[in-house]
Amino acid sequence: MSIAVEIAESLAADASHHGGTFNDLVLQRLEELIGSSFGRTLETGCGKSTIFFSRASREHLAFAIDDRGAPGSSLAFVEASPLFRPEACRFVLGPTQATLPRHAFDPPAFDVVLLDGPHGYPFVELEYYFLYPQIRPGGHLIVDDVHIPTIGRFADFLFEEPMFELVETVVTTALFRRTEAPAFDPLCDGWWRQPYNRRRISPGKADLHLADRPPVDFFSAQKLDQLLMDGHLGVHLGEAPQGARPSYVPPPPEPPPRPGLIARLAAALKG
Ligand SMILES: C[S@@+](CC[C@H](N)C(=O)[O-])C[C@H]1O[C@@H](n2cnc3c(N)ncnc32)[C@H](O)[C@@H]1O
Repeated sequence: MSIAVEIAESLAADASHHGGTFNDLVLQRLEELIGSSFGRTLETGCGKSTIFFSRASREHLAFAIDDRGAPGSSLAFVEASPLFRPEACRFVLGPTQATLPRHAFDPPAFDVVLLDGPHGYPFVELEYYFLYPQIRPGGHLIVDDVHIPTIGRFADFLFEEPMFELVETVVTTALFRRTEAPAFDPLCDGWWRQPYNRRRISPGKADLHLADRPPVDFFSAQKLDQLLMDGHLGVHLGEAPQGARPSYVPPPPEPPPRPGLIARLAAALKG
């Protein structure tokens, strides 16, 4: 039986913890895409995914805060699950903002890295900085909650980044595969070599603008909301029984976002 289905059945009566949790169908689809047998895996945050990786991975590392004692604790939820295999999981407790920078990673690299800890800006990008060099070519990076605008923009960056290729967006979870491209030197600069920047920099400057295709903001919040409302992303959950697809409640209307800096600069120059 699939591990995700086993987890869904075992937790049916106790579906969530404080921090929110993966939808069962999303976890099932991810398992279909990435498999369920890994050497080393890593996640930020913890919950149902930790139970999954403790069963699927020989060695799983979870960077999470110790929220035991708080109502709806993620960590207590994991530890109480009869499906959790503590012998395959090591927790690094504390905010990832503090634990990741001081963690000494030793090779070999990870097969899967899931980013699902703190979601405020710039924490997911901070985690990415410390973790992208640790993903082996052919391995996977999972970014959860790409409907959050800053995480959506980060996923847009990855969508155009040579080190990664998008495998699928499962509702609001984006799955990327690490390509064979060399790792971007984490101690250099080089923003001008990154396609996301090159495609968007000052369009008049042909030397920097890549003319091969226009910029794509696939994950940006409004577009993803629209796709969700139109049901397009639900197709990835093809086997969901009628009515089982996660329901999407559009947020109340917000004032329009301020034009970006470049647009304002261009308008000022025109005027
Ligand atoms: C959305 S939940 C993770 C859900 C989990 N992937 C699952 O499948 O159930 C977010 C998790 O991040 C943890 N968290 C929040 N802030 C954190 C931080 N600064 N550092 C590490 N973990 C954090 C929360 O305690 C919670 O476990």
